[in-house]
Amino acid sequence: MFEQDMEKILVTTEEIQKRVQEIGAQITKEYQGKEVTLICLLNGAITFMADLGRAIDLIVCYDFMKVSSYGNSTVSSGNVRIAKDLANEIFSKHVIIVEDIVDTGTTLERIVNFLQERNPASLKVCCLLDKAERRKIEIPVDYCGFVIPDEFAVGYGLDYDEKYRNLPYIGVLKEEIYKEN
Ligand code: IMP
Ligand code: MG
Repeated sequence: MFEQDMEKILVTTEEIQKRVQEIGAQITKEYQGKEVTLICLLNGAITFMADLGRAIDLIVCYDFMKVSSYGNSTVSSGNVRIAKDLANEIFSKHVIIVEDIVDTGTTLERIVNFLQERNPASLKVCCLLDKAERRKIEIPVDYCGFVIPDEFAVGYGLDYDEKYRNLPYIGVLKEEIYKEN
């Protein structure tokens, strides 16, 4: 029902599913014999993590964290706050942070520093999308689904004003959709 709001499709459902399987296989290979804790950054990474977890053939635990950034909804403001912390300890665990999209890098840098203080056995970052050209803070992205241009993406967990998260593909909204608001 949302097709009429889209200017274009950036990544199709099939492309996402194929890439998620590839990343899952890579993680399975690299963490052989280990247990992995996936940390979902709510709400955007929920769809990605649900698929990624099922693509990893290891013992996998899930935990969830929420970060709020202040400011308007289509450009990240650089101001981040931990709104919901993890439920479980990560000390001596192999942790992978699962994020929907890395833009300036501010959110992930904050979270990586925050979690590193708890001394996990290892800490890596997995993001579905990377707007590499917008990066302000260099943070290592260990696993990346797709590098995308500097356009506002929605779908497969990513929202505009909390909507469009349930689209099975990733698209770019028509400009008139933002302008209405
Ligand atoms: P950063 O802190 O600038 O890297 O911003 C990352 C956060 O901004 C992500 O977790 C998203 O919530 C949000 N964000 C950045 N770009 C987009 C986009 O194109 N669509 C939806 N959310 C975005
Ligand atoms: Mg997010």
